Amino acid sequence: MSLLEDIHEVQRQLQHDLSQIDINAQSVENLRIKYLGKKGLIAGLFKDFGALSSSEKPEFGKALNTLKKTAEEQIKSLQNRVAEQDNKGTSFDYTLPGYPFRQGRLHPITQTMNRICDIFGEMGFGIEFGPEVETDFNNFQALNFPPNHPARDMQDTFFVDKDILLRTHTSPIQIRTMLKTKPPVRILAPGRVYRNEAINPRSYCVFHQIEGLYVDENVTFAELKLTIEVFAKRFFSKDVQLRFRPSFFPFTEPSAEVDISCIICGGSGCRLCKHTGWLEIMGCGMVDPNVFTACQIDPEKYTGYAFGMGAERIALLKYGIDDIRLFYEGDIRFLRQF
Ligand code: PHE
Repeated sequence: MSLLEDIHEVQRQLQHDLSQIDINAQSVENLRIKYLGKKGLIAGLFKDFGALSSSEKPEFGKALNTLKKTAEEQIKSLQNRVAEQDNKGTSFDYTLPGYPFRQGRLHPITQTMNRICDIFGEMGFGIEFGPEVETDFNNFQALNFPPNHPARDMQDTFFVDKDILLRTHTSPIQIRTMLKTKPPVRILAPGRVYRNEAINPRSYCVFHQIEGLYVDENVTFAELKLTIEVFAKRFFSKDVQLRFRPSFFPFTEPSAEVDISCIICGGSGCRLCKHTGWLEIMGCGMVDPNVFTACQIDPEKYTGYAFGMGAERIALLKYGIDDIRLFYEGDIRFLRQF
């Protein structure tokens, strides 16, 4: 065999060994000794090379040097990989704690609305939705706010067009429902509403309401009181006391505002209740006969009650938060607490 064939044979062996190697410090070192060691295969080839005549040397010298260089490079790269593995630690420790991954959650306002809907749902209320862009008729006129009536000023309205507006409350959903279904009607109307108000810790230009409506024959104010009491005791605490104060809304008569005894101090007076002992939670009343007439429901035959509350206000009270703007900032540190 000529030296050239020997060189090629060592080359083949090297490629074979490289393809089979299980990379670790020992096997790479063994490979290095086998090929590049003092008594290694390549050193042996160099010995044979020394015995050649000077005319043969250039040809074989080139092939031999290429082989040596290849072997050195490939073994060096294996040594680097071994070093890298050592840095990372070659074995995986299954007892180490994993990386925790954060779960998403519902926004506190969504949670509050869901909870309110659940409680009324158990009392037989269905849920209705409506559009946020409404007609003046649904938002005002049918709710007994005649054009130019001063009560319209209570709800600073964003108008889109002359008779088109961003709903200022979810009461238009009640109009839509009464226009399309005959009594008995027992629904909850949750949704986003808009008012052109100055933004401060207590109010925001966008917020959420949940209104309720029950229409049937012989519905009474006593039923309204009981329904709200059951809700307040379940949502806040079974110990809360309720108080109904006379109030005014164009679409209800009589109307009332509902207070609960302060959930922090129990009524003795604190910062949350501004030392009154009471917290206002919603408005309510008996549906005004004019509203029934606007919805083609006979006011002689049917009576009904309605109530409405702001989800943000309820959530502020429930969680003891003092700035409504926190709900809209999307700060994960705040939201993660719910
Ligand atoms: N829609 C009223 C508001 O936004 C709340 C309300 C609803 C009051 C139903 C009474 C009855 O102020």
